[in-house]
Amino acid sequence: MQTHKEMIVEPIGLDPDTLPKPLDWAALFGNDHPVELEIGMGKGTFLTEAARSHPETNFFGIEWARWFWRYGSDRLRRHNCLNARTVRAEAGFFIREFVRDASLSVLHVYFPDPWPKKRHNKRRLIQAPFLKEVERILVPGGRLQIVTDHQNYFEQMETVVRGSNLTVVEYNRPGQAAEGEFVGTNFERKYKREGRPFYALAAVKS
Ligand SMILES: C[S@@+](CC[C@H](N)C(=O)[O-])C[C@H]1O[C@@H](n2cnc3c(N)ncnc32)[C@H](O)[C@@H]1O
Repeated sequence: MQTHKEMIVEPIGLDPDTLPKPLDWAALFGNDHPVELEIGMGKGTFLTEAARSHPETNFFGIEWARWFWRYGSDRLRRHNCLNARTVRAEAGFFIREFVRDASLSVLHVYFPDPWPKKRHNKRRLIQAPFLKEVERILVPGGRLQIVTDHQNYFEQMETVVRGSNLTVVEYNRPGQAAEGEFVGTNFERKYKREGRPFYALAAVKS
């Protein structure tokens, strides 16, 4: 396991304390390409593949766990993904404070923490107030994509998404997903080896 010192986050990883509120994506990336944001990027597998395959799109990752954030940011740097930036932050807070209305083309949420114990369910990210934020930050026609292995959380997510102003549509496998994969993240690959089922959901802002 790499230590914190061996991983170089600059210039991909940003310190939220140095960022303007709200963020101006065009100023941050130096172009007006569409922006896709991933919550809980983990080791950055999806983000790195997506940024490499789509140089015409900007990608932004939010990750709370310091080691994963450093690992994913260093990985993006090693692959020269200058169309990607990341922050170490709590996603709900960061989105509320920093992300402008109608500024994201896609919001990706892959294998969000399921908080399986009933008394912890309230810690789950995808709840009705969060969907209000999703409606706010997506551009018209913008898309929310979710994949999980947790049936109970999936059912809850489906209920809140169907209760929002977004329209449920067919889930799109990202182009870089390998044969038989939903998206191709680290957790998907690990859970696939364990034979777990997966559940996917997509919705658009009309
Ligand atoms: C189960 S892992 C999945 C990682 C990656 N998406 C994958 O599929 O391999 C969930 C990740 O989301 C991060 N996370 C959970 N809640 C978060 C939040 N509110 N804000 C930012 N990151 C969060 C965790 O630290 C963890 O790295």
